[in-house]
Amino acid sequence: MAGTDLFRGKVVVITGGGSGIGRETARFVAAHGGRVVVNDLGTSPRGEGADTSSAEAVVAEIRANGGEAAASTEDVSTWPSAQRIVATALDHFGRIDAVVNSAGVMRHSAFEKMPVEDFDLVVRVHLSGTFYVSRAAAPYFAAQNGGAYLHMTSTTGLIGTMGVTNYGTAKAGIAGLSKLIAFDMKRYSVRSNCMAPSARSRQWEQVNAFRQAEFTKAGNNGDFRQFRSTQGVASQIAPVAAFLVSDAAADITGQIIGVRGTEIYLYSQSRPVRTFQRDGGWTAENLSEHLLPAIRPSLVPLETYGEVFAWPTL
Ligand SMILES: NC(=O)c1ccc[n+]([C@@H]2O[C@H](COP(=O)([O-])OP(=O)(O)OC[C@H]3O[C@@H](n4cnc5c(N)ncnc54)[C@H](O)[C@@H]3O)[C@@H](O)[C@H]2O)c1
Repeated sequence: MAGTDLFRGKVVVITGGGSGIGRETARFVAAHGGRVVVNDLGTSPRGEGADTSSAEAVVAEIRANGGEAAASTEDVSTWPSAQRIVATALDHFGRIDAVVNSAGVMRHSAFEKMPVEDFDLVVRVHLSGTFYVSRAAAPYFAAQNGGAYLHMTSTTGLIGTMGVTNYGTAKAGIAGLSKLIAFDMKRYSVRSNCMAPSARSRQWEQVNAFRQAEFTKAGNNGDFRQFRSTQGVASQIAPVAAFLVSDAAADITGQIIGVRGTEIYLYSQSRPVRTFQRDGGWTAENLSEHLLPAIRPSLVPLETYGEVFAWPTL
């Protein structure tokens, strides 16, 4: 198999490895000498059904190319099955060096119509699933004093858009989770980073068809102008995702990296941008009189990620 030795001797667990970004990352790690656990429940984009052939097909492809891989068809969204995903790495390869959390589902609807069960499912798969699989690997990382996590967040959670309060909430939560893991695991030399990818995928096509129908008619069409041309593809995300969990990225932790086509972004993280202080404290009167005019120029407009990333990918 062609490639460098970037992952020689390493074992990487990739959830959602049967499709899209996870699949491309699994293929990339294997092509660069790593052994991979390809985990995938094989659901529909909405999280319905299960199909073992999704993970198994990627494993077969890696093996056919001379690489090493094992399939896991467990669900990331329960604690027992998350532990079994990590156990697959130990059982097959005797160790675990990195986790890439890429499993995901999407159920879109406008907030005022969103079924409670769609909120619960999406948060469980993305946010709880990321916690469970990461947590299951943590004792092994701590014991060997090393390991790396990469979690898929999204511009939906970091910047925002319409019709996906469940998904965006989970993705914003993942950005927080990643940073907090980075703090706790630093004493074991374990790193945790987030990626906000942009790649045309099966989910992407479905959600944008919905947004077009639901929101364009209300005049809020910032997301759709040239939108398709602003997206990259999954094979452009994979090298960056894999690199971030390799030893070559050894000093990078607590970061959020965006990838879209050939562009890589480093995201800012929340810090106060201006402070306002008033001797004697604030009252309703002086808030109106002094705070509002002072704060207004610094307020962030309510822009979707489609408006923030309005230019076609390079
Ligand atoms: N494609 C994009 O532009 C984009 C943008 C932002 C974030 N992301 C995130 O990146 C990740 C990968 O996205 P993608 O576009 O490759 O999606 P995808 O739908 O192609 O792949 C996701 C995979 O996760 C699997 N999965 C779903 N629920 C699971 C569960 N409970 N347990 C195990 N596996 C499960 C699915 O079967 C599927 O194979 C997701 O977390 C997604 O939210 C993608």
